[in-house]
Amino acid sequence: IYCSIFQLLFFSGVILSTSQIFPFLAPVTDCVEAHRVCSTDPQCEALYRGLELCAVDASVAPLGEQEASECLERQDALLAKHPSLLACKCQRGFRKEERCLRIYWRVRLLPGREELEISPYDDSMIDSRMASLVSVMFTPAGSSFMQLDGENQCLKAAQDCGLYEKCGALRSDYVFSCTKPIPNTSRCNQYKCHRALRRFLERVPEEYSLGVLFCPCTNTLCGERRRKTIVPSCSYQDAESLQPNCLHQQSFCRRDDLCRSRLADFLSNCQPSHLTASGCLKDSTGLCLRAYAGLIGTIMTPNYISNNSADVSLWCNCEGSGNQWQECLRLQRLFTHNSCL
Ligand SMILES: *[C@@H]1O[C@H](CO)[C@@H](O)[C@H](O)[C@H]1NC(C)=O
Ligand SMILES: *[C@@H]1O[C@H](CO)[C@@H](O)[C@H](O)[C@H]1NC(C)=O
Repeated sequence: IYCSIFQLLFFSGVILSTSQIFPFLAPVTDCVEAHRVCSTDPQCEALYRGLELCAVDASVAPLGEQEASECLERQDALLAKHPSLLACKCQRGFRKEERCLRIYWRVRLLPGREELEISPYDDSMIDSRMASLVSVMFTPAGSSFMQLDGENQCLKAAQDCGLYEKCGALRSDYVFSCTKPIPNTSRCNQYKCHRALRRFLERVPEEYSLGVLFCPCTNTLCGERRRKTIVPSCSYQDAESLQPNCLHQQSFCRRDDLCRSRLADFLSNCQPSHLTASGCLKDSTGLCLRAYAGLIGTIMTPNYISNNSADVSLWCNCEGSGNQWQECLRLQRLFTHNSCL
C-alpha cells in the first residue's frame, strides 16, 4: 500500500523528484547518457526515433486521435523498458545541454501542465559557494551591506568582471552582439544577442555573473547601470512593436526546448511560500536567482523595471488575455510580486 501511494504521488506530480527527497538513493542520470544506453538496444532506439517523429508532427499541428494513441503507446513501451529515460536530468550550460534537453522533452512528448513546472535541470550538486555568495549579497546585516552607502556596487561588480579575463571577454562579446546593428537597418540581431548573453551567463563563474546582475544599489546612477547590464534595447525591448501578451510569450517560449526548460526551471525554483525563511517553496534563494538568470537570453528575458528600485518584470502585459486573464496575472506576478525572487 505504501508503495502504491508513493507511486500515485510520484505520477501525479506531488512529489517532484525522488532525488530531491532522498539524494542518497539514486544519482541523477544525464539524459544524454540515458539515451546512449537506450541506443545500444535496437528496439529502444526504434521506439525513441518513433517518438521523435511524433514530436515533429505534434509541432506542426495537434496530433489526430489515431496518431496520438500510437505515440502514447510508443512512449509507454519505451519507458517500460528504460525508465531511466524518464528520470534523467540535464546540466545547465553544459556543451551537450541542448541535446540533453531535446531527449528530456522527447520522452515527455506532450508534457502536461505539471511537467512544464518541473525543472529538467539537475540541482543535486548545488554548491555551498552559491549559498555563501547569496548570503553575502543579500543579508541586510552582512558586512557588505554596511559599506554600501554611497558606493556604486554595480560599478564595482563591472570592474571586478573586467579584471577577470574570461568575464571581461565574454561581456565584451555580448555587448558587441547586442549593440551591432544588422547591416542597413537600425535594429540589432536579437538572436545573436541572446546567444551571447546566455554564453556569458553559462560560462562565467557565478560570483562574477550574478554579481553584475544582482548588485545592490542605493542610487539611480547605480540602478541605471544595473538595468542596462543586459542591454535592454536589444535583449527584450522592440522599439517597433508593442509589448506582447505574457501568455503569448509563454506559449512561444514553450515551443522551444531551451526556453521551455529555462521557464520550467524558473517555475519550479521560484515558487513562493510563506512557510520558509527564504520565502521560497524550495527554501533556496540561490536556486531561484540562478533560474531567473537562466531566463536571460530567451524570449522571456526579465529585467529591472527602473533605475530606482530592484523590482523586476517580464517585458509583456496581460491585455487581451480574455478568459485567461487570471492565469496571465499569475505568471506576471511571479516576477513582480514574488517573495522568493
Ligand atoms: C546596404 O546598402 C548598400 C548601399 O545603400 C548596398 O550597396 C548594400 O548591398 C546593402 N547591403 C545589404 C545587406 O542589403
Ligand atoms: C533614471 O531613469 C529615468 C527615467 O527613465 C531617467 O530620466 C534618468 O535619467 C535615469 N537616471 C540616471 C542616473 O540615469
